[in-house]
Amino acid sequence: MSRPDSTRSARPAASSAASALQAFDSKQLFVAHDPKSRKLLEQVEKVAPTTATLLIRGESGTGKDLLAELIHFLSSSANRGAGEPFVKIDCASLPHELVESELFGYEKGAFTGATEMKRGRLELAGAGTLVLDEIAALSMPAQAKLLRVIEERKFDRLGGSKPITVEARLIALTNIDLEHAVARKTFREDLYYRLNVVPLTVTPLRERPADIAPLAEHLVAQLAEVHRKPKPALSAAAARALEQYAFPGNVRELRNILERAVVYGSGGELQAEDLPAHVAGGRAGGKQTLEQRERAYIAEVLEFTRGKKSQAAAILGISRKTLLEKRKRYGLD
Ligand SMILES: Nc1ncnc2c1ncn2[C@@H]1O[C@H](COP(=O)(O)OP(=O)(O)O)[C@@H](O)[C@H]1O
Ligand SMILES: [Mg+2]
Repeated sequence: MSRPDSTRSARPAASSAASALQAFDSKQLFVAHDPKSRKLLEQVEKVAPTTATLLIRGESGTGKDLLAELIHFLSSSANRGAGEPFVKIDCASLPHELVESELFGYEKGAFTGATEMKRGRLELAGAGTLVLDEIAALSMPAQAKLLRVIEERKFDRLGGSKPITVEARLIALTNIDLEHAVARKTFREDLYYRLNVVPLTVTPLRERPADIAPLAEHLVAQLAEVHRKPKPALSAAAARALEQYAFPGNVRELRNILERAVVYGSGGELQAEDLPAHVAGGRAGGKQTLEQRERAYIAEVLEFTRGKKSQAAAILGISRKTLLEKRKRYGLD
């Protein structure tokens, strides 16, 4: 496939991260044009070749999963020989009991139904990378076991008594504030400190506007390939509309918006009119007042968080109380 403009995405061109990025599967290119993203990539370049356990923080859709993949790629090309496994576990989507057996595996007879020994993902990750997505969803007992894994690099399969050594590098992801979880006593403080030794924070897309256009170009190329459509160019007006939009759903939302435009598009230039009305914004509907924009944006964020007010307030950067007031004033409740 035609390679997206990787020089633009992987500056500074002289750094080794840049050359690795160019080798990174072009479908998986990590676009980093904004100074905030470049800074993040510089940190990544330093930590990737180490064995340190990492914590990646950031709102949903900011690119935490993709960053974990990039780290795996950089670290295996640095010192592990390519081809080591990249294994993920989503702590939020599995029931608590299953998380432990998936993570640690079990011995034959460990519990009813354990008719065979089964290796967990910690073992399956070998000398590669194990990503623990939504780490804050881990149960307290699982957190205690994970702490041991990090400190002693050892664990037992469920029902087992022969400790197994962990070779894999661990990367934890979270979109919730772990400090709050610690304060609420749903997250172990010692585990938090252990994880937070090397934190990497992915900035919300709205705070790194210089990434928007390059990301849009990369994603449009990627999506056109996926959907077997000719690759449309992005019109200047469409790029400008995207740059002015706040993306409560971050890069994932940008991708969804572009996916629709690519699928419905004719393959010609992608116009501002091909974007949803709330993104094309005041452009289509004439001038809007600040209040209209504020109301629309708050409504959108509330829709994105499915009415979860604390999360919406965090995205908007206001207190929950202010959000409640504005919601009432704008008749959004
Ligand atoms: N910097 C980036 N460059 C290219 N694609 C990105 C970037 N950040 C995010 N994406 C894409 O956006 C989508 C959401 O990213 P993901 O890593 O799943 O976010 P998160 O895990 O933080 O929710 C994915 O399709 C991902 O490939
Ligand atoms: Mg994710």
